[in-house]
Amino acid sequence: MLTEKLKQAYFSNQDNDTPAFSPEIKALSGFSGVKFMKTLQSLAKLFVDEEKSYVEVGVFQGLTLMAVASEIPDFEAVGIDNFAFFDKEKRNQKIIEERRSKLKLENVKLVNMDYEDAFLDFANITDKKIGLYLVDGPHDYRSQMMCLLYAKPFLADESVIVIDDCNYKHVRQANRDFLISHPEYKLVFESYTEAHPNNQSANVVQQSREGWWNGINVIARDPNNVLSTMYPPVEQDKSLFVNDHTMHSIRYPEYITKFIPIINTISSFMNSKWKPKNEFIGDFDKLNTHSKGLKERLNNALD
Ligand SMILES: C[S@@+](CC[C@H](N)C(=O)[O-])C[C@H]1O[C@@H](n2cnc3c(N)ncnc32)[C@H](O)[C@@H]1O
Repeated sequence: MLTEKLKQAYFSNQDNDTPAFSPEIKALSGFSGVKFMKTLQSLAKLFVDEEKSYVEVGVFQGLTLMAVASEIPDFEAVGIDNFAFFDKEKRNQKIIEERRSKLKLENVKLVNMDYEDAFLDFANITDKKIGLYLVDGPHDYRSQMMCLLYAKPFLADESVIVIDDCNYKHVRQANRDFLISHPEYKLVFESYTEAHPNNQSANVVQQSREGWWNGINVIARDPNNVLSTMYPPVEQDKSLFVNDHTMHSIRYPEYITKFIPIINTISSFMNSKWKPKNEFIGDFDKLNTHSKGLKERLNNALD
């Protein structure tokens, strides 16, 4: 039954003839690919009902929330965001509320909270279990892991977790650590691109917009152990995670990323031989995902 439902959701997104979004949803701005959103929509129709809700962490201006809610008008769609990122002018909450009323989506519940606080108070947010869960909030390793662990007590027996931005190696690491430590959960689908869409050439960006945006992992709760086991790829070298311990005890950790450009500037003044290219490791000025070579890796456990 679980496998059949997952297959239905997966294959309904592989042909280009799947229905396009309504013009209202098409007009919304946000950070997500078309296949990504269609997958969310088809999973919602299969895993959300009167007893199970759709929940997402990371709403931004409501693209994924509205796209999903519009497909399940009779069932609850909960969006959790504390508007910590991408909201300098503090207008995202208002944008979401305007969109919700314009689209007449009575089923949307917006929760303006940090995800940790929200899950600690989850019984006051909804009395339903989670049927479909989108993790698209903060991307540091701990937050990725906590988004999975804090939500776990509320996930329905038959439920699916979709994780965005899996091009990032630390996101994949958190997913892998979760999967290994919770064998009842299985990775059923993964797809990546070699770089964040903002660092891709024009034609590749278009593919990402039509596809999976910045990499995706789909995880299903599989209590009867019917799905095969697979894990997202990660690096062998764990020194960054080990050094995290030191990072917690250094002075002024909040300024550490600001030091590197200063060192760069001083070193170029002194005509030093040591001139790192930029403040980040990787080919780009920012948003390095460390997903080179993963483009060909498009796995699913359902074929
Ligand atoms: C990439 S955006 C989400 C994109 C969105 N799903 C869409 O469809 O466009 C990430 C969001 O996570 C939110 N966020 C970051 N840290 C958070 C936290 N600790 N708790 C809740 N939301 C958080 C940010 O405010 C931001 O709106």
